[in-house]
Amino acid sequence: MTKDKIEKLISQLTLQEKVDMIHGNGFFATKGVERLGIPPFRTSDGPRGVRKDFENDAWKDIGLSYDAVSYLPCNTALAATWNRELAYSMGKLLGKEARGRGKDMILAPGINIMRSPLCGRSFEYMGEDPHLVSEMAVPLVQGIEENDVAACVKHFAVNNQETRRFDVDVEVSERALREIYLPGFEAAVRRGRTKGVMGAYNKLRGTHCCHHAHLLNDILRGEWGFEGITVSDWGGVHDTREALMNGLDMEMSGTSDFDAYYMADPLVRMIESGEVDGKTAVARIDEKVRHILQVMNRLHMLDGERSAGSYNDYEDKAALRQAARESVVLLKNDRGILPLDPKKVKKLLVVGENANRAHAPGGGSAEIKALYEITPLMGIHMLLGGNTSVVYKPGYFNDDPGNICANTDGSERGKTAEDKIRHQQEMNEKYLQEALAAAADADAVIFVGGLTHDYDSEGQDRADMKLPYGQDRLITELLKIRPDTVVALVAGSPVDMRAWLDDAASLVFSWYAGMEGGIALAEVLFGKFNPSGRLPETFPFTEADCPAVVLGEFPGQDKVSYGEDIFVGYRYYDTYDVAPAFPFGYGLSYTDFVMTGIRAEVIEDTVLSKGVKVSFDISNIGGQAGAAVAQIYVADKYPRVRKAAKELKAFEKIYLEAGETREVTIMLEREAFTYYDEASHSFVADAGSYMLLLAKNAEEIVDVTEIEFTV
Ligand code: BGC
Repeated sequence: MTKDKIEKLISQLTLQEKVDMIHGNGFFATKGVERLGIPPFRTSDGPRGVRKDFENDAWKDIGLSYDAVSYLPCNTALAATWNRELAYSMGKLLGKEARGRGKDMILAPGINIMRSPLCGRSFEYMGEDPHLVSEMAVPLVQGIEENDVAACVKHFAVNNQETRRFDVDVEVSERALREIYLPGFEAAVRRGRTKGVMGAYNKLRGTHCCHHAHLLNDILRGEWGFEGITVSDWGGVHDTREALMNGLDMEMSGTSDFDAYYMADPLVRMIESGEVDGKTAVARIDEKVRHILQVMNRLHMLDGERSAGSYNDYEDKAALRQAARESVVLLKNDRGILPLDPKKVKKLLVVGENANRAHAPGGGSAEIKALYEITPLMGIHMLLGGNTSVVYKPGYFNDDPGNICANTDGSERGKTAEDKIRHQQEMNEKYLQEALAAAADADAVIFVGGLTHDYDSEGQDRADMKLPYGQDRLITELLKIRPDTVVALVAGSPVDMRAWLDDAASLVFSWYAGMEGGIALAEVLFGKFNPSGRLPETFPFTEADCPAVVLGEFPGQDKVSYGEDIFVGYRYYDTYDVAPAFPFGYGLSYTDFVMTGIRAEVIEDTVLSKGVKVSFDISNIGGQAGAAVAQIYVADKYPRVRKAAKELKAFEKIYLEAGETREVTIMLEREAFTYYDEASHSFVADAGSYMLLLAKNAEEIVDVTEIEFTV
């Protein structure tokens, strides 16, 4: 459909019809205009797969038999793969399933920066580094949109906590905003060409982000050239005039009085009463409708030649399993306990309630009605087959729903909170003793614990990083009698491991890794897959090390000041010499890689006029094939402004056979050397000396070269 035709459609619409198109007429859809062939616009959560269907005007599960879908690895898991191709394949799958379920926009991906390890929604996001987030979000968005479905990157912007998320007012410097919190969104818009952006609930400098002129008009549309639809977060609109004027296209909410939405009847009344200039208002409304029609047009919603999509395709299992495999991070393997040899393990003890728990149904709007979910316990059984006897002991007590084999001892539970705590403690003790008793004569012991969506969840932040349900004591006691216990954690964010970290020889971190997550973990534990995941965020020892917490600004009060400025994640730990438990980018393998010979050449004719070609050699000197993640950090030798000690500016995941050596070349474009200059409102690169650090992670630099950059 041509531009003229869209303009013609707009001219044929009545004011009421236009207004109907810019606000929800159901929890997840707007009204169409049947007489002109404009369909309703249907959205759906979310980042881990297409959410089940609700009634149009009630938060009531319709209970369909056909809305179970693929459950994808959460975004943190995906980011931990550091594999752009997997991001693309997961995007393609998500878009195809969204289309297959008849949706027009999938409310994903979530790409807010992990400012604090305590944020309840960290698992929905891609970690702490703007470069990694950008590199993973772009292919993910592109993959989604190949299916005639719009992506919707969220939550724009600075939605970095859940506590008081509807109203918290964020104060952040323009530099930190531009360098840390916005690059992922900018990349999704400029390079990913996302057709949707969701405003955040919170305020930025006093104004709610869903109708924030600086964010939506100046930056998003003005600077980045966004041509898609801006959608409010559900209930994120607070003012009709601001929503009209400040760049919001579509108001969505979770209440069923659809006509009462700010951009519904109140908007019409405002125009009719002359409270706003009618001409200006209609022009603004036309603009919103134009954005919506343009997207509808690009999605082929107006011409009938649209891809149909599909879901639960048999052949997608391989990609889902590969993404889950590559997300697993091996954090410790001191005595080479891992991988376990399936042939030598005749009797295996699996301890830990997370071994037996399905996580898909939890977390808030990222919940998934999964077609299936392979738990770690099932994955271990699937992998070992019939020659090993697997004994399972829960080890700790968690009777929250979600445990697919719920403990039945709940009858003993008392009614008061105190009784519940006492009951929890009694059960923990009982389960602990049962696990310890079973540990003595097993050939191997695997503990699978971590968090659940009672902790990693929308709408709340964690109070601390502690493992719940008495797990510290259980792990400590297990390690006392079985120092070879393999510790595996399933969680969406870092936990405090200090109680037992030194005693655990082997440690594996697996996220909410989707429907194939349990078998992927088992494959790593038993050596069928060589782990290649890397942390997309620093794991501090405790939340007390996190700069936002140190400053008393997480979760803060009604107004939160991001006093740590650009020093988020490793930028802080590195620059201020605070040792983390595990650094950003960290992860081990069952093989060994050597990276050497970094060399750099300034190239004059790259797209951005000047860039740097970086090359190095990498060898797999171990005994098996595997993938390494080479990371290039840039450090300004004599910075003119305060800068982090170094910043990630490029990475490459490289798969090598045993004994293989390869030369790798990566381009660094000019932006790798820029910082945001508040005086000139632009990114600038200073001439001078820059160190290029070839690294295995933010702490382990293996080679360095220096370049002179003349601007
Ligand atoms: C969440 C969004 C979600 C929306 C619709 C909101 O509460 O913040 O991420 O897409 O609900 O379910």
